[in-house]
Amino acid sequence: MRKEPIIIGNWKMHKTPAEAVAFIESLECKAHLAVPFPALQAAAQAASRKGIEIGAQNLCEHSAGAFTGEVSADMIVACGASFVLVGHSERRHVYGESDELISAKLKQAIQAKLTPVLCIGETLSERELDKTEEVLKRQLSLGLEGVSGPFMIAYEPVWAIGTGKSASAQMAEQAHVAIRRFLGNKDVPILYGGSVNPSNAQELLKQDNIDGALVGGASLDVKTFTSIIRG
Ligand code: PGA
Repeated sequence: MRKEPIIIGNWKMHKTPAEAVAFIESLECKAHLAVPFPALQAAAQAASRKGIEIGAQNLCEHSAGAFTGEVSADMIVACGASFVLVGHSERRHVYGESDELISAKLKQAIQAKLTPVLCIGETLSERELDKTEEVLKRQLSLGLEGVSGPFMIAYEPVWAIGTGKSASAQMAEQAHVAIRRFLGNKDVPILYGGSVNPSNAQELLKQDNIDGALVGGASLDVKTFTSIIRG
C-alpha cells in the first residue's frame, strides 16, 4: 500500500508567531509547516499536541560563531523543529546560494538530527535548452556530496514557483523518475513543489514517484491547505 503523502507548507516570509499559532490551532489534519524563524518555537509548541511537524526554511552552514544574523541547526532543534528546507529556489536565486554552500547546510542539519529537505529544480531557460536532467543531477550530486543520513528531496521547477503554472503531472513524474534513478534509493521521499493548489494536487500526488508536495502560496490559508491535504 502507498504511504500517506507528505505535505509541507512553506510560509516563506509570512505570519507572525501569533498568526502561526492561530493557524495551527484551526488546522485539523496532519501536515508539515516550514515557518519563519521568529514563529518556530510558538508554532512547535502549538503543533506538538496535534501531530503537525514544524520546520525552518533555512539554516547556517556553521554550527556556532561570529555569523551575525545567522541561525544554527542546534538553535532550530532547540525551538522544537524536526526538519529544515535547504537550497530553496529563492535561496539559490535571490541570495546566491551555491550547491557547495547548500551541501554544508545539509550536513549541519543531519548532524543536529534535523531532517533536511533538499530543494532542486531547473529554470525555464534550462528546460528550454533540454538541460533539466543535467541540472537536477548536478544539484543532487554536489548537494549530497558526503551526506549520509535521512533526508527528503523537493523537486521545484523554478518557472513553476509562485507563477500559477504548475508542471503537468506527467512532466513532474518524469523528473521524479530521473531523480529516483539518480539517487538509487527507494526510501527517499521526493516531493513536488511549484504552484500546487487544490485543483492540481490530487493528479500530481497520484503519480507513482511523487511522494508529497511542497506548497507555498496555497499553504497560507487553512481551508485551502486543508483541501490539498484531504484531497
Ligand atoms: P508556490 O511555492 O506553491 O507558491 O508556487 C512553492 C515553494 O516555493 O515552495
